[in-house]
Amino acid sequence: MGPMNRFWTLSGKPLGAWPDADTFALREGPIPVPGPGQALTRTIYVSLDPYQWGYKKRGVEAPGAPCHARTVAQVTQSQMAGFAVGDLVFNTNGWAEYGLMGEGVARPSYMIPRKLDPAQGRISQAVGVLGMLGLTAYAGMVLMGDPKPGETAVVSAASGGVGQIAGQLARLRGARVVGIAGREQKCRYVVDELRFDACVSHLSPTFARDLKAACPTGVDVYFENVGGALFDAVLPLFKQGARMTICGLIAHYGDAPGADARAALMKRGECIFHDRGVNVRDLFVGDFVASSHDTFLAEMTPKVAAGEIKYREDIRQHIENLPACFAEMLRGDNFGKMLVQLAVDPTR
Ligand SMILES: NC(=O)c1ccc[n+]([C@@H]2O[C@H](COP(=O)([O-])OP(=O)(O)OC[C@H]3O[C@@H](n4cnc5c(N)ncnc54)[C@H](OP(=O)(O)O)[C@@H]3O)[C@@H](O)[C@H]2O)c1
Repeated sequence: MGPMNRFWTLSGKPLGAWPDADTFALREGPIPVPGPGQALTRTIYVSLDPYQWGYKKRGVEAPGAPCHARTVAQVTQSQMAGFAVGDLVFNTNGWAEYGLMGEGVARPSYMIPRKLDPAQGRISQAVGVLGMLGLTAYAGMVLMGDPKPGETAVVSAASGGVGQIAGQLARLRGARVVGIAGREQKCRYVVDELRFDACVSHLSPTFARDLKAACPTGVDVYFENVGGALFDAVLPLFKQGARMTICGLIAHYGDAPGADARAALMKRGECIFHDRGVNVRDLFVGDFVASSHDTFLAEMTPKVAAGEIKYREDIRQHIENLPACFAEMLRGDNFGKMLVQLAVDPTR
């Protein structure tokens, strides 16, 4: 038998609040053969993102199919127009060593495979700062939050994939930016490297007080990635006419099925939102791909290349480690955008 394709699926055991050793199963099957209009690609980087746990809990993935993930891959066989062997691509192979792309291959409508140009930046950035995460930050902060010079913008999960970009975009627009992160090392990175004006730790027993002290004039823009106690600490600080983007509520991704964390948050905020005219908007990045992806790339690519926007990745190795890395990311044990590398990156 020739080389096989290894991939992770859900094990089929009932899912707990958070993933554990029983959640996933490593399987092996033949490497798929591309048909007309398709290409076979070998995965280089798998992007691990909090929303993937939501997919699993909501039963979005077909049983036995590789766990969904956005990937950076290299074409190894092609019957797909415009894609040749050796091309580097963004696609959605999931937690798998190989995957097909092209005609008839299921993927979310807004995750369109595209060819990558290594001259434009590191290829791993296609699933990060120059991909969906960057567009999420751009849409949620620039297009929805619209921070103005002198305003105060707060970003939760500030050292993570989305948060680090959202905060820098607010800073470049002249806002005073305050991050919220966990460990001290992350908070230091947010201030020293990303040049936020301040960063407070949600692990501190005086967190709410620390946040208030870091935002002496209140909060004009809040980019919400987490929810829970972080939202509760920001809520009393909202100024008249503040804007809040709900990007994600990661603290609630382990909640029981049917729990509506967003509705609970809106209820908790109801009086203050009303009295202070806070404009709360939900973000779904897929809504911005068609309208804003090109503008976003044109604005961001030179800024990233020039180091005006910094971006930290947490790159782990080996397919066997995917479940452990995923659980670590959900616990906050990543430091930067979490990726798992499955094959050699020919550009590094
Ligand atoms: N709306 C959209 O279209 C869209 C698109 C992409 C992503 N998202 C959302 O954006 C958010 C950030 O995603 P990301 O990829 O950038 O993730 P990430 O920040 O790379 O990783 C998650 C981070 O969240 C923090 N965290 C986890 N659990 C927490 C808890 N209980 N309390 C406080 N902080 C906690 C941890 O940072 P600390 O150690 O600093 O606490 C952890 O490192 C997620 O909610 C995700 O679902 C939304």
